[in-house]
Amino acid sequence: MTELTDITGPAAPGAPVAFPQDRTCPYHPPAGYTPLRDGRPLSRVTLYDGREVWLVTAQTTARALLADPRLSTERRRPGFPVPTPRFEAGRDRKVALLGVDDPEHQRQRRMLIPSFTVKRATALRPWIQRIVDELLDAMIVQGPPAELVSAFALPVPSMVICGLLGVPYADHEFFEEQSRRLLRGPTGADTIAARDRLEEYLGGLIDAKAKESEPGDGILDDLVHQRLRPGELDRADVVSLAIILLVAGHETTANMISLGTFTLLQHPERLAELRADPALLPAVVEELMRMLSIAEGMQRVALEDIEIAGSTIRAGDGVLFSTSVINRDTSVYDDPDALDFQRPDRHHLAFGFGFHQCLGQNLARAELEIALGSLLTRLPGLRLAAPAEDIPFKPGDTIQGMLELPVTW
Ligand code: HEM
Repeated sequence: MTELTDITGPAAPGAPVAFPQDRTCPYHPPAGYTPLRDGRPLSRVTLYDGREVWLVTAQTTARALLADPRLSTERRRPGFPVPTPRFEAGRDRKVALLGVDDPEHQRQRRMLIPSFTVKRATALRPWIQRIVDELLDAMIVQGPPAELVSAFALPVPSMVICGLLGVPYADHEFFEEQSRRLLRGPTGADTIAARDRLEEYLGGLIDAKAKESEPGDGILDDLVHQRLRPGELDRADVVSLAIILLVAGHETTANMISLGTFTLLQHPERLAELRADPALLPAVVEELMRMLSIAEGMQRVALEDIEIAGSTIRAGDGVLFSTSVINRDTSVYDDPDALDFQRPDRHHLAFGFGFHQCLGQNLARAELEIALGSLLTRLPGLRLAAPAEDIPFKPGDTIQGMLELPVTW
């Protein structure tokens, strides 16, 4: 069995590293990425089909490139880096926001910004707190032990995003399953089928909302009544926006709650530091975001030649960004593999950077602070209910997180 703390792998000088790879420890970059951590800002890596693309691993280079309009995020473009066979199958589908460049991207994003500001996230805190409290009440009544992913980590963001969008939470088993298949389905056909089912489900919901004379108070209601009806967006646009918001809104945060809890439980001294000073919570969330870097491998394709950091990215080259390596850049962070709540620099790239920087980051921060803070306060004796090395976590080709998290208290 692999040691949880074993994060170094054999260096193979010269040979391109395969990307993505499975993590050896759920909260560290894969051991196989060790050759990528040698200070070079970008390297060549090999994808599953043998194709070579660029992988950006330094923070300044990543910031420059993610804010450079010569890199495109449109999946249909030739040369777009496809990290898994499953992704290839869905490449011709319309992806709102994350799959479009400016000016269309800006147009879509502007419609949603008011729903995701810091002010809005702050106003939602009491409501998120109620959701968290009720889930913890139910877990405490039924336990210990508990399986934290299904009892808490997934329902918190799922209930929040449902409430915000105006999607009935009663359907959560259906859309959580489709979203899991979309991000982690075994085959391309499975991924496409999941997307079709989500499109059908959300399309039906949007049609029903369009028939209502008085709009409800969800984001989808706003999009239907303020943008679809006047013809600013078509039905396919609204469905595509609904899919990205629903999927991005719960999968990512759920993984941060499960993996964040696991990581804190594996660092008892840091957990004690937090318990002694709850005001550290926002810093703890940022440090966990940096260290866990759950959204690995952002994808772009070059539209023109780009000279950067001593290399030339040619038009048509695929460019990937390793958030896990970027967020451990030794020129930015001292002792980057350590969990340290006192770091002066919190400007990690776990929410991306530039044009497509995470729209939901203020909401995610609020959810994480409330979920982790309340979990640790309500369950002071929280601990793993199985040996850490036996607890399964997600493979490297998807958003990182725990598959299950058995806990007791
Ligand atoms: C801790 C949880 C989260 C993480 C780690 C995360 C991570 C990311 C990252 C890395 C990107 C940029 C991708 C790229 O540039 O290729 C992104 C974009 C995005 N995220 Fe998040 N995210 C989280 C939570 C959320 C939530 C709660 C929502 C709510 C709706 C959300 C909605 C989005 C959207 C819509 C985009 C695309 C933005 C655009 O293209 O303009 N995310 N996220």
